[in-house]
Amino acid sequence: MGSLGRRMMRDDKSLTYTIITITNQKGGVGKTTTAIHLAHGLALAGKRVLLVDLDAQAQAGIAMHIPPRDGAFFLLTMGLDRGATAYIHAQMKEVRPGWQLLPASKRLAGVEPALPSPAVSWLAETLRRFEGEFDYIVLDTAPTVNRLQVLAMWAADWVIVPAAPEPLSANSIQKVVQTLTGLKKQRHWQGGLFGILPTMYRERVREHAETLADYRRRFGEALVLPPIHLAARLAESPAYGQTVFERSPTDRAAHEYRALVNAVLKAR
Ligand SMILES: Nc1ncnc2c1ncn2[C@@H]1O[C@H](COP(=O)(O)OP(=O)(O)O)[C@@H](O)[C@H]1O
Ligand SMILES: [Mg+2]
Repeated sequence: MGSLGRRMMRDDKSLTYTIITITNQKGGVGKTTTAIHLAHGLALAGKRVLLVDLDAQAQAGIAMHIPPRDGAFFLLTMGLDRGATAYIHAQMKEVRPGWQLLPASKRLAGVEPALPSPAVSWLAETLRRFEGEFDYIVLDTAPTVNRLQVLAMWAADWVIVPAAPEPLSANSIQKVVQTLTGLKKQRHWQGGLFGILPTMYRERVREHAETLADYRRRFGEALVLPPIHLAARLAESPAYGQTVFERSPTDRAAHEYRALVNAVLKAR
């Protein structure tokens, strides 16, 4: 594992923002929940945040009661000129002060043939139009392994892998780790694996505790983040279009996601 947890100095040091990609090819493991809480938590800390939904299911917006739009599709398919940038901006929605969302839509499912560039750096390049506007760009991804996921990983300064402690979850984490290792060795990826984020965790369940111990053995202590417990407040928050920071700021889930936000704020 070794160097995967560290990131290199970026060639392009002028960039003002840090890109954080939330990924795991498994669905229902808390990716979108993590993306939303990270984005909101960073905005509450005074940062300017853009959340880009790269999942055709458009759940990131739906969870905040924002309807699907073709924003992410246009980000990926339009050119870099000012007209295109203005058009993409018009697709953004301010979720909360300091937190903008570029929503997804069904169209994203067919985006790959429409990408104007074959380069693994294309998503990073098309995001560069937002230089100076944001401190953090959070990328929420779909539970598949397609080219878009790879572009999202390559664009990342940091990758976070949410994982529910269920049988075989280590296999899907292992696949992300292999992809990242390949990107680092062969494609000059300069980011790092921020960590595996155990979600929906119950310490009383022996299988959960064992799964966590297994992650630590396989991936190393330093790469296993403090878990997010199973929380009714998190499961019900999409119904209210609010994050737990709003609905239940003293709930354990709010504290746990705040700790993740603080760790991200401190990361170098
Ligand atoms: N820690 C948690 N405790 C309880 N429910 C959760 C937790 N994290 C996510 N959920 C719920 O589980 C479901 C799947 O989570 P989601 O974030 O959409 O996963 P993904 O984006 O990986 O498919 C959602 O209904 C969400 O509200
Ligand atoms: Mg999701």
